[in-house]
Order: sequence, then structure tokens, then C-alpha cells
Amino acid sequence: MSGNGHLAKRGPYAFEYARIAVADPAASAQFYERHVGLDVSGRKDGRVYLRAGTEHHCIELVRDGDARQAKVTAFGFSVDSDAALAEIKERVAAAGHPVKPLDALQRTFCGDGFATSDPTGMTWELFTGFQVFAEPPMLEYRPLSIVHPFVGTEKYDETLKFYMDVLGFRASDYIANVSAFLRSENRFHHSLAMRRAKAFEIAHICFQMKSFDHMMRGRAKAIYHKVKIGADMANHSGSRSLAFYMEDPAHGPKIELCDGHEILSPEDHESRKPRIMAIDPRNIDVWRAAEDDWHDL
Ligand SMILES: [Fe+2]
Repeated sequence: MSGNGHLAKRGPYAFEYARIAVADPAASAQFYERHVGLDVSGRKDGRVYLRAGTEHHCIELVRDGDARQAKVTAFGFSVDSDAALAEIKERVAAAGHPVKPLDALQRTFCGDGFATSDPTGMTWELFTGFQVFAEPPMLEYRPLSIVHPFVGTEKYDETLKFYMDVLGFRASDYIANVSAFLRSENRFHHSLAMRRAKAFEIAHICFQMKSFDHMMRGRAKAIYHKVKIGADMANHSGSRSLAFYMEDPAHGPKIELCDGHEILSPEDHESRKPRIMAIDPRNIDVWRAAEDDWHDL
């Protein structure tokens, strides 16, 4: 039973990967290797898979020769048991959302699973038994893990309802009725975030680096290689992570590299009441100087 006295829904476990269509997977793989610290875990049928930790991949690059800029085409979330997967699938079908087979190649990297689409049209893949490597990549500069995608949508209310009521995410914090920070069963403060926007966007994808120094090395590398810093250093009110954002539209959405990200205790995961924070830049980045010190992340 949750703290609210309701039987808690079981949701997805963790954000595992983004599938990104790019014009040149080899060039994009080099970007993720150099700037994010990922390691190529495999190449198959023209796709390139890259990993951060032991999980098989966290970025999947698919060739789209017509792509003038990179486009995220699917999110992959693991589910930690067959029972939870069955419950989620049942809720998805009952709510009238499609239940489709997993991508054929993804099926070779996991156990059971299915795909659906959220109200924005984004494809979601939910699965158990994501395959792992025995060891993480033998690299000094690499992320500990992929953490979350941040979605913007004009269909904010119905998409939030889908993420919480159907998929089973729980709210950690809100900024009024314009942003939501949602957690899954790995208890990260948020493994999915969303905001109200004029049109659909993937605002960024976040990776957690090993330390503050590793994150700052990533920032220095981006500046040295003239990758645009889409938004500079921020201290987040929700997860209390420190981060910067780099941007190269040929390879993907903005990439957030962070240090530190709150993980809730099992007790707090069950009972946390989300804060509803005021719309103020200082609630997006607690280092902002004043209420009119806007700075888009
Ligand atoms: Fe983020």
C-alpha cells in the first residue's frame, strides 16, 4: 500500500535508451564517444549501439539518409518483473492505446516486451530482461548511466495522465501546472520529465557522470571542440544535480551531463508527496539571480 492508502501501481523500472535517427550513424557515434563518454557496444544492420554502464545500450543510432537533423524515434524503458510488465500492458490496452510488437532488433536484446505510443505520438518500448555486459566499459571518462529524457508537448495534460495513470510513473515534483518530474521504480528523482510547450520537442536527454570533475571535463571538451553549450551550469531544484547542456542537432537533442541526482529511499518512493513549486527561474536553477533571470534548459 502506498502512503496515500491506495495500492501503488507498478511502473517501468528505468530509462534505458533513446533510439535516434541520424544521417550518419558513424559520425554521431563519434560524437557520443568523445563528448558523452559512451562506448560502442555493437553494430547491426546499419545501426550503432552505444553503452554507458553494463546495460547493452543507452543510445541506438539508426540511419536516416533524409534526416536533416537527428530525431528521437523511441524511448526504451525496462520493467523489473513479468508481473509488472503484464500489469502495464493491461493498463495500456484498457486505456485504448496500441499494443504493438517490440522493434525486431530490440527483441534480440531483451526478454518479453511490447511497444506503444504516448499521446504525443512518441514510441515507447517496455521490456524485461535487458541484456547486460559482465563489465562496464573500460573507460575513465564515461557516464554512470543515462538518466532521463525531457519531453515538451502541447498535449501536456493528457500526456501526463498517460505517463502516471497508464504507465505508472509517480510525481516527484511539479512546477505549477507546466512541468512535471516523474520517477519510476529505480527511485531516481526523475527518470522522465515533461513540460507544457507550443509543439512537441525532446528538450534534452540526461546522463549522470562519475563526478563533478568528470562533468566539468565534459564541458571543457565541448568548449574546446566548439560544440555549442545550449545552456550552461545549473543547479536543479528537484534532483539537486549540477549540470550543463550541449547541443549538436546533427546527432540528437540537447545532451545534459550532470553530477549527482537524488535517489529516493524506498520509504520516500512509497510516500513522497510531490512539491508544487512556483513558476520562477530559481525553481529551474536555484542559482538564478532573480525572478526575471530566465534561462531555458
Ligand atoms: Fe534534465
